[in-house]
Amino acid sequence: MASFSSVSAAARRLEGKVALITGGASGIGESTARLFSKHGAKVVIADIQDDLGHSVCKDLNSQSTSFVHCDVTKETDIGNAVNHAVSKYGKLDIMLNNAGIAGVAKPNILDNTKAEFEQVVNVNLVGAFLGTKHAARVMIPARNGSIITTGSVCSTIGGAATHAYTSSKHGVLGLMRNTAVELGQFGIRVNCVSPYVVATPLSKDFFKLDDDEIYRVYSNLKGEVLKPEDVAEAALYLGSDESKYVSGHNLVVDGGFTIVNSGLCMFAQS
Ligand SMILES: NC(=O)c1ccc[n+]([C@@H]2O[C@H](COP(=O)([O-])OP(=O)(O)OC[C@H]3O[C@@H](n4cnc5c(N)ncnc54)[C@H](O)[C@@H]3O)[C@@H](O)[C@H]2O)c1
Repeated sequence: MASFSSVSAAARRLEGKVALITGGASGIGESTARLFSKHGAKVVIADIQDDLGHSVCKDLNSQSTSFVHCDVTKETDIGNAVNHAVSKYGKLDIMLNNAGIAGVAKPNILDNTKAEFEQVVNVNLVGAFLGTKHAARVMIPARNGSIITTGSVCSTIGGAATHAYTSSKHGVLGLMRNTAVELGQFGIRVNCVSPYVVATPLSKDFFKLDDDEIYRVYSNLKGEVLKPEDVAEAALYLGSDESKYVSGHNLVVDGGFTIVNSGLCMFAQS
């Protein structure tokens, strides 16, 4: 479970804001829900894991947090989740398109099926499209809003995950950039947060590792291990007014991983 130190009323950065977080029942989304809530936001968690989602809400203030069942691949579910936020809390200020799956790890493209490819793209990219679209539906009349999509280091480099995952995460970057251009005229900001590997059910299952080894061995920045809370802090910045002129940005949280070519690095030490 994510842990954040308490925040004084004066230091709350999302006071009065309403946020919707897809994939908010677990991992990065759960951690972000906890941090947003701590900073005074009303939070709607939208996920397919109902029990987990409800238990996160129970743990947080039930007056300011609620769960809605939502499969991000279904437009009616996304539409309902956005409507739920507006009817319960009056508006939507922050949309975090975070729900994601890694897919089946098959290194050989010949073994990859069309159905497996489509499933990952449906959740990670189509889900982000639907979330962006329905958030924009209520943010355009309000002339305000911050839409954030969880990208990945796989949004900018190849070879770190499956073809489907990498394609979907490159796709969310394109979607973010295009919609940032369109929605800027309405005062709506659109950005991505792109983490390096974080220990969550998704990555543990994909890499079949129980310990932190992969996070340490392949990382560029030593001495720290990326946690869901660190990604939540980046989302907090993009959701808050402190980033009021930041749009079309891919905020990488990767310790420099994506700017190094480890095959030819003059600083490599044995
Ligand atoms: N963990 C990592 O190493 C890592 C690195 C970079 C980016 N990411 C991205 O972070 C995001 C969150 O992943 P996580 O690592 O916290 O994993 P996680 O498995 O802990 O959380 C993902 C959540 O998404 C939900 N979800 C899955 N399919 C859904 C659907 N169709 N509709 C609604 N919700 C759905 C799951 O129920 C789960 O609660 C994903 O977009 C992932 O691609 C993760």
